[in-house]
Amino acid sequence: MKDQESQVADIGSLIAAQKAGYALAQPFYLSDAIFAQDVDRVFYQEWQLAGHVSEIPDAGDYILFEMMRESVIVVRGDDGKVRALANVCRHRGSRVCIEPRGNTKRFTCPYHAWAFNLDGSLFNARMLGQDHDRSKLGLKSVAVEVFHGLIYVSLSDAPASFDHLRVDLDPVLAPFGLARTRIAHRESYPVQANWKLLVENYNECYHCTAAHPEFARSHATHMAAERVAPLNEQMLARSKAAGVPTDFVDCIGSLRPTGSPDYAYNRYSLFDGYFTGSEDGAPLAPLLGDITAYDSGASDVYVGILNPMLIYCDHALIYRFVPVDKDTSIQEIIWLVHEDAQEGRDYDLTRLKWLWDVTTIADKQIIEKNQAGVNSRFYEPGPFVEMEAYTQRFIAAYLATLTTN
Ligand code: FES
Ligand code: FE
Repeated sequence: MKDQESQVADIGSLIAAQKAGYALAQPFYLSDAIFAQDVDRVFYQEWQLAGHVSEIPDAGDYILFEMMRESVIVVRGDDGKVRALANVCRHRGSRVCIEPRGNTKRFTCPYHAWAFNLDGSLFNARMLGQDHDRSKLGLKSVAVEVFHGLIYVSLSDAPASFDHLRVDLDPVLAPFGLARTRIAHRESYPVQANWKLLVENYNECYHCTAAHPEFARSHATHMAAERVAPLNEQMLARSKAAGVPTDFVDCIGSLRPTGSPDYAYNRYSLFDGYFTGSEDGAPLAPLLGDITAYDSGASDVYVGILNPMLIYCDHALIYRFVPVDKDTSIQEIIWLVHEDAQEGRDYDLTRLKWLWDVTTIADKQIIEKNQAGVNSRFYEPGPFVEMEAYTQRFIAAYLATLTTN
């Protein structure tokens, strides 16, 4: 086996050599040079979920979004606007905001006490000569988009536009009222694997029958397309009656419109007896948004490639795939419920999180075994099956990102 780094001397050739319909070559998982590219071209470019508006309802409320070397303050201003500011002091670069969340009138750097307003502008710089233009010494702005209550940031200087995505996804997301939800729970699952193996695994249900008996008995996505189709047909009538959108926004085979983040929406049926993603099929929480009844379906939603969403009638989940280093990642799940839902009265947290907790623990185990095999000198990329179409779609989007940014 050739040394990983010598194989990636020319990443372009490696991408060109990538066989369509096959898993990625080993250097994409093991090379430090490719991981550095991943950080620069994926994690410092793509839109990523930073939080939900319910986390910062009032002026001065803030949360930190941290990604590799970067830290961003997401704050609600006195004018009610959500802004994202680089958490890097304009004096000598210290982190300005240390607490991961809180409320403040302004941000004061812990090093020499320069102070910044909620919009990032410089409020005070002790003893700084009058010859400096204070208007040029504010915290730098980071791109931010609030989309159905979800706060996305991009660390890019020229982030992809949300315009296409808003036009296509607005109508299918609106009835779920995600802006009127709140975070019921969030959990981080550390995984000893390259981040791409986490995303690849999330995007296919070929493994679900064997790895996820809890999921497979309630969700139909692990079966062949011809067996799923009749179930989805029956669901469509229920969805229409309940006000659940069923128009697919499916970009398989046609990746993102130029200059747009990748996005998709589709809905599929659960098995008979399952209203939602619960252990026994029973409802878990009050219905979301304007949904009037259970259609016994689940929606897959993509806003960018890093934060897939799953929306049932009564709760939603958002995934965050966070790299720690080349060989370590974090899979985080955020559970959303209706903003009025109270734990204990309207839902039981143990029941709410049960399915995706057991499923994600099982995923951690299979992904780590996947990484172990990929590390081997005997690893050779094999062919995908049809049920892995979304994983192939991710790989195509990923390779395009490495090529075009
Ligand atoms: Fe922030 Fe000096 S580095 S005040
Ligand atoms: Fe899985």
